[in-house]
Amino acid sequence: MTTYTVRKGSPDKIRADVVVVGVTDQDGQPALAPGGEGVASAYGRKLAPLLATVGATGKQGETVKIATGGTLKTPLLVLVGLGPVDRVDTAAVRAAAGAAARAVSNCASVALALPAADAEHVRAALEGFRLGGYTFTRFKSGPHPEPAAEVVVLSDAARTKAVATAVETVDAVVRAVALARDWVNTPPGDLTPPKFADAVTATQKLSSAKGKVKLTVLDEKALAEKGYGGILGVGRGSDSPPRLVELTYHPRGAKTHLALVGKGITYDSGGLSIKPGASMVTMKMDMAGAASVIAATLAIAELGLPVQVTTYAPLAENMISGSATRPGDVLEMYGGKTVEVLNTDAEGRLVLADALVRAGEHDPDVVVDVATLTGACVVALGERISGLLGNDETLLGDIETAAEAAGERVWQLPIPVEMTEKVRGNSKIADLAQHNSERWGGTLYAAAFLQEFVEGRRWAHLDIAGPAYNEKGPYGHVTTGGTGHSVATLVELARSLGARD
Ligand code: BES
Ligand code: MN
Ligand code: ZN
Repeated sequence: MTTYTVRKGSPDKIRADVVVVGVTDQDGQPALAPGGEGVASAYGRKLAPLLATVGATGKQGETVKIATGGTLKTPLLVLVGLGPVDRVDTAAVRAAAGAAARAVSNCASVALALPAADAEHVRAALEGFRLGGYTFTRFKSGPHPEPAAEVVVLSDAARTKAVATAVETVDAVVRAVALARDWVNTPPGDLTPPKFADAVTATQKLSSAKGKVKLTVLDEKALAEKGYGGILGVGRGSDSPPRLVELTYHPRGAKTHLALVGKGITYDSGGLSIKPGASMVTMKMDMAGAASVIAATLAIAELGLPVQVTTYAPLAENMISGSATRPGDVLEMYGGKTVEVLNTDAEGRLVLADALVRAGEHDPDVVVDVATLTGACVVALGERISGLLGNDETLLGDIETAAEAAGERVWQLPIPVEMTEKVRGNSKIADLAQHNSERWGGTLYAAAFLQEFVEGRRWAHLDIAGPAYNEKGPYGHVTTGGTGHSVATLVELARSLGARD
């Protein structure tokens, strides 16, 4: 267990194994960032040549270790790059703290002397450090590196109410992000729909959201009785039956009702429209949307935010067998609309459609769905930015603001009317065509399809196909594998909706 504290103090006086100080890039020259003044004065005129000798440039993500030889109270000084001096914002601090966490993985006590003059920067430093140090060791034989016992953030804003709130938020958000990452990283055979539902049930006993969140799991029998044709149609090729997980958090006095829906394909082989082998390798991550909305709901409840939240995670495994749905089959979705399946690899929209209709039954004020929905979104926005689509400018703006505060990146894409016309017009035998034979604008078509199931409610859709899973090396607070992207944004959105009443 690590303890995290925020207090006033100077990096040259603090007793710890290591002190972390930021370096900015000032027109090509390295300069110590705010927070590091004590180090600058302890080294005096030796600082500039030292920075040059160790090759510190202030480039974002760069870390350099220096043995202090008694110049500071700590034996080790870690310099971490913050990037250009004119852009030391919370994103830069979060990223630098994340890189620092990986540089100091063997130390028992760590002091962070990064720019942290206000609560937002304290939050960024603490969140970046804790998320950047995340590891997934469940399937590695030990021994595993010990995390630090003590982490201190040095800030003049210590002991203010805003910092106390920030520390509390960080704690709930970090645990939720780690939970989502753990689930995404878990191999698909170890997280089938029934096992995932059991894992969600298990959090009920552990989490401090205990008692505040009500959980219901619909199994394949209940899904069949109620007519969840989308979830069943996707899941029927698998030996592991589908589930629909529902969470409700209803605090007294809540005025706004937020519904969350997350795509939970525990493995996406593509089904009969099978994926090429190389594209299948990472498809255990196709439940990242479900992991995010569930983990975010638990965090929102732990924080006691004054918003009603109902959360739906349709869980299914998209596999191939004699009972799998065929391209050409027609499914009757929950609520009665019929859909012609034209490509079994476009399965996410089918499970989401059922869950969106279900979400509407409780008459929420806003609906947000999160899904690793389309490869086309990765083509459009790259691996680090989510696509944001929907039908309500205010809600979309709120999500952009929340993402900014949470340190996650989203970008709006349109849902043009011609896509809706294709969704409605391209099936000769059913109400809707699940798939567009033309590949251009695949993200927009998928969103236009989902829009058919929200019945005019205020709704937003986050396509997290790019940022949900990091196949490359870690950067900033984002580690390799499952990233937990969107958890922090959803918690922040709930906070802003709650604050508005
Ligand atoms: N789960 C995939 C989308 C995906 C792709 C997520 C890459 C993360 C990385 C989704 O189910 C899918 O297969 N989408 C198809 C849709 C197509 C058949 C219209 C795609 O993107 O190719
Ligand atoms: Mn697919
Ligand atoms: Zn998928």
